Amino acid sequence: MVTTANNQRVLSGMRPTGRIHLGQYHGVLKNWIELQHEYECFFFVADWHALTTHYDDTSSIHESVWEMVIDWLAAGVNPGSAKMFIQSRVPQHAELHLLLSMMTPLGWLERVPSFKDQQEKLKEKDLSTYGFLGYPLLQSADILIYKAGLVPVGEDQVAHIEMTREVARRFNHLFGREKNFKDKAEAAIKKLGKKNAKIYNESRRLYQEQGNQDALDKGRALLESAQNLTKGDLDRLYGYIEGSGRIILPEPESLLTAASKMPGLDGQKMSKSYHNTISLREDPKEVEKKLRKMPTDPNRVRLTDPGDPEKCPVWEWHHVYSDESVKQSVIEGCKSASIGCIECKQHIINAVIEEIKPIQERAKEFEQDSALVKSIITEGCEAARDAAEETMLEVRNIMGLSYR
Ligand code: TRP
Ligand code: SF4
Repeated sequence: MVTTANNQRVLSGMRPTGRIHLGQYHGVLKNWIELQHEYECFFFVADWHALTTHYDDTSSIHESVWEMVIDWLAAGVNPGSAKMFIQSRVPQHAELHLLLSMMTPLGWLERVPSFKDQQEKLKEKDLSTYGFLGYPLLQSADILIYKAGLVPVGEDQVAHIEMTREVARRFNHLFGREKNFKDKAEAAIKKLGKKNAKIYNESRRLYQEQGNQDALDKGRALLESAQNLTKGDLDRLYGYIEGSGRIILPEPESLLTAASKMPGLDGQKMSKSYHNTISLREDPKEVEKKLRKMPTDPNRVRLTDPGDPEKCPVWEWHHVYSDESVKQSVIEGCKSASIGCIECKQHIINAVIEEIKPIQERAKEFEQDSALVKSIITEGCEAARDAAEETMLEVRNIMGLSYR
C-alpha cells in the first residue's frame, strides 16, 4: 500500500441536505467529532456533489449548506481542530477532477456499484449525465487533492475509495516515472546520511525480496522523520522503497464508519427521503409527538398483549439511548405485558430531548450570528485552498503544465 507522511490527514464530505438528523449525527458527525482530536481534519460541504443528482433544482442548496454547517458547529465540530469548507469555494477540486478525467477509463466509472443503483433508485430523474457518471471521480479528486490518508465513510462509499486508490496508482504510474528516476532516488538516499541510508537500503531490500511489511513500515517511518530532504526527494523515496516510481498522489484508506444502529421512525433507515427523521433542532414537543406515534411490535395491539422487543423498531432506539438496566426492564416488561409502549418510549423521548438540548442551545448562538458562521467557513476555505493549491502546483508541474 502506498501512503506517505501525510497519511495522518483525514478528509470527509457531506452533501448539503439541510438540517442534520439523528441518524447522521450518530452515524457520521459523532465520528468526525472524535477524529478531530486525533488527526488533522478537513470536513467539507459537497455542494457540487449535490448537483450530480439535483441539477434541475438548485434553489435550496444555499440554505441547506448553511443549515448543515450550523448543525456541524452546534454538534461540536470545532473550527480550532478541524477545517470546515465548501467544495465549490475551492475550485482546485474541479481542476484536478478534469485532469484525472483524462486518464480514467470509462469502465471504472460504469462499474462503481452506486452508478447503477442510484439510477435505479432515482428513476424519476434523468441520470444518464456526464456529471453523474463522473461523480465518484470528483470524489477521488476531493480526497487526492489533500493527500488524505484516511477517509471516514459509510459502507456505500467504500467502492469509491477503492476506485480512488486505482486512480492514484494510475496517476503515479503515468507521471511518477521521471527520467533518471533511479539516479535521483539513489542521490536522495545519500542525503539521508550514512546510518539512515543503510537502514533505508536494508528495509528496501527486505521488502522487495521477501515482502517484509515490517521492513517497509520501518523504512517509511525513517522517511517520516527525515529532516533535510525536499518533498520531491521524499516522494521518490516513498516510491523507490516499494519498487514504484515517485508517489505524487498517495493512496487513501477508508475508515469504515459503523452503520448507525438507529433506524428511522418507521423502522427503515433514517433518511430525509423517507420522511422518518428527527432533526437535531427538532422542537422537544415534536420529538415527543413523533416518537409516541412510532409503530411497535405489531402483535401488541392491546396493553395486555405480550410483545417481543426484537420485533419492535423502538427496541433499536433503546440500543442507542438506554443503559443495561433500562433495557432489561424493557425486555421483561414488554414480554410480560407489564409495561405499556408509551411508558417504554418515554425513556427514549427523555434521552433524545436531553441529548439535543445542549446542541440546540449552541445552534441558537450560531443562528443569531451568521457572520461568525461565515467567517469560520471563510477561514476553512482559505486553509483548504492553500493545501489544495500545494498539490496542484506539483500536479501541474509533473504533467508539464506549468508555464512560468
Ligand atoms: N459522496 C459522499 C456522499 O454522497 C460525499 C463525499 C463527496 C465525500 N466527496 C467526498 C465523502 C470525499 C468522503 C470523501 O456521502
Ligand atoms: Fe416495543 Fe417497548 Fe412496546 Fe415492547 S413495550 S412493543 S419494545 S415499544
